[in-house]
Amino acid sequence: MDKAVKDRLVAQATLALTVRRAVSFDVAPLHGLIVLAGVPGTGKTTLARGLATKVAAMLSPSKVNFIQVDPHGLASASLGKSQQQVTTLFNQTIPEAGMGGFAVVLLDEVETLAADRKKMSLEANPVDVHRATDAVLASLDLLTRQHKNILLIATTNYPQAVDSAFLSRADLIEYIPPPNNEARAEIIRDTLEGLGRQWPSIRNLANDMSLFVAASSGMDGRRLRKAVVSALAGSIATARDPNLVTSQQVLAALKASTQANKEVGREAA
Ligand SMILES: Nc1ncnc2c1ncn2[C@@H]1O[C@H](COP(=O)(O)OP(=O)(O)O)[C@@H](O)[C@H]1O
Ligand SMILES: [Mg+2]
Repeated sequence: MDKAVKDRLVAQATLALTVRRAVSFDVAPLHGLIVLAGVPGTGKTTLARGLATKVAAMLSPSKVNFIQVDPHGLASASLGKSQQQVTTLFNQTIPEAGMGGFAVVLLDEVETLAADRKKMSLEANPVDVHRATDAVLASLDLLTRQHKNILLIATTNYPQAVDSAFLSRADLIEYIPPPNNEARAEIIRDTLEGLGRQWPSIRNLANDMSLFVAASSGMDGRRLRKAVVSALAGSIATARDPNLVTSQQVLAALKASTQANKEVGREAA
């Protein structure tokens, strides 16, 4: 992950939890909301958790609670229920977590929680989802004005499906791109090193990094790690003794994964 992105996030989080308390909302209209947007597998959830850890270290010795909200759990509640659950979450659970210190809240895959109300006509439960989004926005406004010790980090794989009123409340929207050549090399190296701790010969494969980078163009971080690991299944012999894995097998695994990605993309299109 680009260091500039990380620094920007830490700076914004610090602002949200310190400067925001010192001035009124009219002067500095900060909601304490950071949004990480990008295609699946680019490390948004991991980054959000890492940011929470950084924030906690920075605010030490103050108490910092971390909450991760899975909106799929909320939205799957039966008709009419999700609105109530959202209200309880924002008006009670989250403020309580911040009592006596700070709270960092990860709203993962927030498109489910704050679905775009303009696009609801195609949904199975349009009225309920509409109400849930309204409840999120109303509760969000209340929460961010009354509790300036709370930082919300939202991630989304589909920013175009998130209600624009939610996005407009973000203090910072950070677009997380798929890994470039340099980033892919780092992810591959990290994966090889991790495997190399168990099977030392695997470390030598890093010598062919330029080939791996070229073969993995367009892949996201998650697919990339999986592809490298799946090279171990290149043959029964390597699955039994991963020390035997060759560069050709890693290359083949990367190519197979890229090809599968393309096929799936073509079907979806
Ligand atoms: N930029 C990256 N650097 C290192 N690993 C990554 C990166 N992006 C994704 N990954 C790998 O993919 C996995 C899934 O990442 P995740 O944070 O869940 O992505 P997202 O939330 O964007 O779908 C991570 O556990 C990590 O192993
Ligand atoms: Mg995620």
